[in-house]
Amino acid sequence: MTTLSLPLNTVASQQVFAAVNEGLLSSPKTLPAWLFYDETGSRLFDRITELPEYYLTRTERAIFTANAAEVVALAAGTQALQIVELGAGSCDKTCILLQAAVERQDTVLYEPVDVSPAPLEEAQERIEREIPGVLVSPRVQDYTRSLALDPPLSGERRLVLYIGSSIGNFEPAEAHALLAEIRSTLAPGDTVLVGVDLVKEEALLHAAYNDEAGITEAFNRNLLHRLNRELGANFKPDLFAHRAIWNPQHSRIEMHLESLLRQIITIPGSHTEFGMGQDIQIEFARGETIHTENSYKYRPGQTESMLEAVGFTPLKTWTDKRGWFGVSLARAA
Ligand code: AVI
Repeated sequence: MTTLSLPLNTVASQQVFAAVNEGLLSSPKTLPAWLFYDETGSRLFDRITELPEYYLTRTERAIFTANAAEVVALAAGTQALQIVELGAGSCDKTCILLQAAVERQDTVLYEPVDVSPAPLEEAQERIEREIPGVLVSPRVQDYTRSLALDPPLSGERRLVLYIGSSIGNFEPAEAHALLAEIRSTLAPGDTVLVGVDLVKEEALLHAAYNDEAGITEAFNRNLLHRLNRELGANFKPDLFAHRAIWNPQHSRIEMHLESLLRQIITIPGSHTEFGMGQDIQIEFARGETIHTENSYKYRPGQTESMLEAVGFTPLKTWTDKRGWFGVSLARAA
């Protein structure tokens, strides 16, 4: 796990500095996607999920609404279910599954796992208020590095949720490693539910990452604001253009920040582990980009193959009518 590995809890500025030092002094320049999600970035991402062009969240939600009872029944079999979620999102979608589980078995243990405590606290507060019958047991952990779960309650089966197309932000090898890690923590009979965005017409993909309101642009540029805030860098974010392009060869949307002119940025060196390191000077040519994110789009059948490759047996995949998004359930063999 490299590009998406998330430093635990509040990300120390030294870790941000190290990531920047590595990514911006390499060629081509890159920044890791976890840097998007400071407080401002997380709020911007929530707004992205509500944009008319960003079909992903609402399409996956519709799949859950139509199929939650079947997902839960298939995952549980004859046993009771406990649900683990990797990354505590806004919980809108998860609540649909939790509600279906509660209808089936009265009470359900829900274990959201996230790298930072704030979204976990929010999720706990909201779920306990909205769905009596769900017992929330949050866990602060960087699951991209390792996922250690306590043994399940006796006689219960685990269902691990990795939804929201989050797996699409990993390189294929990293996605494989993460699924293998999930498999290694599960017992035979447990299940995983993975939500992926599917390849579709380029214009639709392009619009989803180039929205009219400019929220994705603000989300992308917030990276530079964050480096100014946390490291004292002197980026002028307006001198970098948001670029989101479809790369058909790799089946991914790439996000970049493109320097609009030749410029030199300085990041004070006082954040290095030695305390008073040298300032870093980063030179940008006009048109040079910082590659900030990949969002992989899968082909039908691809998720199932990946799941099979790490020791799961695919049980069922649900899609929407237009075939834009896929949700696959697989059992640990
Ligand atoms: C979190 N992740 C699934 C989003 C995506 O679509 O890849 C992040 C995002 N980047 C730009 N817009 C949304």
